Amino acid sequence: MQESVWRDGVASAGHPRLERDLDVDVAIVGGGITGLTTALLLARAGKTVAVLEARRIGDGTTGGTSAHLTVALDQPLATLASRFGEEGARRAVESCRGAIDTIGGLCAGLGVDAEFQRVPAFRWAETPAHVPHLDDEARRYGEAGVLVHRQDGLPFSSLAVAALRFEEQAVFHPLRYLEGLAAAVVSSGAGHVFERTRVTRWDDGRPCRLRTSTGATVTAQEVVLATHSPIGLLVSLHTRLEPLTSYIIVARVDDPPPLGLYFDTAEPYHYVRAVSPARPDLLVIGGADTKHGHEPDTAACYTRLAEFARTRFSVRAIERRWSAILFESVDGLPFIGRLPGAQHVWVSTGYSGTGLTYGTVGAQLLSDLIQGHDNGWAELYSPSRVKPIASARRFVAENASNAYRWVADRLAPAPSDRGAGLPPGDGKLARVGGKKLALYRDPTGKLHAMSPKCTHSGCIVQWNQDDRTWDCPCHGGRFDAEGKVISGPPMADLRRVALDEEEPAPGEREERPAAAQPVQPEPERRGEVG
Ligand code: FES
Repeated sequence: MQESVWRDGVASAGHPRLERDLDVDVAIVGGGITGLTTALLLARAGKTVAVLEARRIGDGTTGGTSAHLTVALDQPLATLASRFGEEGARRAVESCRGAIDTIGGLCAGLGVDAEFQRVPAFRWAETPAHVPHLDDEARRYGEAGVLVHRQDGLPFSSLAVAALRFEEQAVFHPLRYLEGLAAAVVSSGAGHVFERTRVTRWDDGRPCRLRTSTGATVTAQEVVLATHSPIGLLVSLHTRLEPLTSYIIVARVDDPPPLGLYFDTAEPYHYVRAVSPARPDLLVIGGADTKHGHEPDTAACYTRLAEFARTRFSVRAIERRWSAILFESVDGLPFIGRLPGAQHVWVSTGYSGTGLTYGTVGAQLLSDLIQGHDNGWAELYSPSRVKPIASARRFVAENASNAYRWVADRLAPAPSDRGAGLPPGDGKLARVGGKKLALYRDPTGKLHAMSPKCTHSGCIVQWNQDDRTWDCPCHGGRFDAEGKVISGPPMADLRRVALDEEEPAPGEREERPAAAQPVQPEPERRGEVG
């Protein structure tokens, strides 16, 4: 898996593994922006908290994003207004504006050198047909209290025919910010941060119980699933989320644009920002999103991104590339609040392309709800909401049939060999002795064989040659080349298989895909390894 630019030069504090049983008020699964911000807010409110991160702080999507902090949402405000009312759309913008203020306040208050800087954001159009949309957005954002201006073009691109300029947006360095949050959680005296501690099962109850990969157990009054897409078999949530892969390159250019955030109105859209105010010539350029686990030629996505960059900038070199997973919700707003059917389990997910802003909204809202405080955003973001919108039924149906196809696919013929001809660093699906396997040959030449069944609910993972990952096409799961979980709903690694292992017994149980099951909210009180 290729690392993002945000790891460069950032020393990890090296938080410990959880080695003994622990009892806290709130257990938080996931050490990204949602989890760590929630932990800090609750610790400051007097709660004892434990953050349980499966890998390192920020190793999930927080550390792989382009780190935009903006109120300019992925969904058009007109669409949100039609689904949530004019007031709902305004509240969504208001909550994001508050989140940016919170991040700036925490950077200053904690003394975190995360390069937080206020900058303008630009949404630009390269086709005249999109200009009326920009005009409508300008009016709506203005009514929501955002300082926004319409302008005719952009300084760096002659292709732009119109743009909106949003004032008072921000950039920052996401991993430095997370390290600062984690240090503050620990130094509060009320919080623990554990790394390399994967939660392998959670149970709702009084208290809630969490089992971990280290063998230690955590008991807690409340549990927050802050793993971007919540871990466990959560049918009513996972079928209302669409996982997308977003591709990112770092380009060194001769003609950097003024410091700011830039995103276009294309479909799929593109986004641009400088890596840092100190290196304006290094641009993070992303987009070209595809359905996660569905793209057979990920190299082509990076190629398209490089072409996009070269058409608009004088590119000296492409210095880095990586991808990140994002989740779009069925109705366009995140799900933040109590898990449907649960008593003491909370979720925050479905951030679309505004993850660091919404992650902070999620932390603020969950912190209030767990403390029993009223919060004016609770109803808007409730995971139990059901919006009677025409696209929702189609969205869920497509998700379900899609999942079923990817499970049924395990029966389709695959090349029958034992990895012959597979070069070092490459992977593929193959049928060996009548059994379908995920094969990977590491750089030393050693062949690794795994079951290709995703441990979440049994879909067949797909090899991603560019990122050297196994990507699950159903609910956004991602595993490294040797089958270890990187992110998404799965809680267990792909099962290792000895190449001389016996054939499966006739009638071996075939899992039914989660997405093919009923989708209305239902009691969900437990998550465990699939
Ligand atoms: Fe759900 Fe893989 S993430 S089956």
